[in-house]
Amino acid sequence: MRMVMSSALPSLVQRMIRGGLSSSPPTWSIVVKASEIDFSQPSSSGLPRKASLVCRSWYPTTRLMLGVLTRAGFKDKKHLSYFEREIPVRGKEMVTLRELGGRILSRDLWGNIAGMVEEKDLLERRLVLPLANASMAEQFGVEPPRAIVLFGPPGTGKTTFAKAVASRLEWPFVEVFPSRLAAGPEGLAGGLRLIFEEIAELDHAVVFIDEVEEIAAQRGGEPPSATQGVTNELLKIIPAFRERPGKLLICATNFIRALDDAFLRHGRFDYVIPIGLPDQDARLAIWRKFIPESAPALDLDQLVERSQGFSPADIEFSARRASQTAFEKAIAGGEGLGPTMTDYLDAIATTKTTVSAEVAEAFRQDIENLART
Ligand SMILES: Nc1ncnc2c1ncn2[C@@H]1O[C@H](COP(=O)(O)OP(=O)(O)O)[C@@H](O)[C@H]1O
Ligand SMILES: [Mg+2]
Repeated sequence: MRMVMSSALPSLVQRMIRGGLSSSPPTWSIVVKASEIDFSQPSSSGLPRKASLVCRSWYPTTRLMLGVLTRAGFKDKKHLSYFEREIPVRGKEMVTLRELGGRILSRDLWGNIAGMVEEKDLLERRLVLPLANASMAEQFGVEPPRAIVLFGPPGTGKTTFAKAVASRLEWPFVEVFPSRLAAGPEGLAGGLRLIFEEIAELDHAVVFIDEVEEIAAQRGGEPPSATQGVTNELLKIIPAFRERPGKLLICATNFIRALDDAFLRHGRFDYVIPIGLPDQDARLAIWRKFIPESAPALDLDQLVERSQGFSPADIEFSARRASQTAFEKAIAGGEGLGPTMTDYLDAIATTKTTVSAEVAEAFRQDIENLART
């Protein structure tokens, strides 16, 4: 609706609207008569085919106002009774978004990612800046990214980053779940095609496919694997997706080396970005995030040191375990205001890290062979 107002109205009327809306109570407002808007058949420009702009005034119309409105193309409908009922505007896009299970995420996700300064900086420069400033990017010959892959060991924050990018751009977040599509009548390949057709109707979206290796695994082999047709479909979908601006596809995987070669070849994904284990600063920030304010003074440097090789998820797990243990002890009659250093060190010692030395080494090789940043 805002689009109708801003692009279809003469600037003089727009100034009047702003003037009217800023005074309180408003003396003016221009309303769009919703009953006459036909959202079912948008015109080629994307604007509704037909809409009435009604100027509503709370005070008797002066000659000056009448003159301004007449010049702006409004007609004075004499002897007209006007009944009003306000309804929320639901464009077709909102319906599609709901059908897709898309969500507008809260705005603080980006700020909530602790540490990971290098990854954040890279994603900000490569994704957020060109997508949020598309016309300036174009002016400088920067092609805004359309699709990227995030890869790295489990629990390092790939899903968290994908959501944070959507939150940062203020675009809806739409997650595609291959397992749900597989259960549909069209089968997985057909389901994927249909869902991307629906996604194409959205103005903006961050589309997320987690564990993409399950539907883009290496093809070949005799007989062909059951997912081969699905991989082929996805390989066709991505170039079509790239042709429409305003959307970003983020695929995440823990096993990048399992992906089909054609999938990662130039032309499909703009960037293939590793998300690794948190460095010292990131670990410190993540510990801080999960330690309650009431906890007695703690040696944070020691926690950071002892949690080397931990993923953010491992740190979260240890921190919650320490809190739980301390809480149980306090309830059972012990003393204390919160988890102590001993609780944390015990929790660290009993946490099995997700990323083994072998996985860390494989990740290092993957960065060398496959990353594109
Ligand atoms: N930088 C971070 N700061 C704080 N919490 C994080 C960070 N990265 C990940 N987490 C937390 O760790 C858990 C696992 O992250 P997730 O994004 O699901 O990892 P992945 O998708 O790579 O497996 C989540 O609970 C998430 O909130
Ligand atoms: Mg994930």
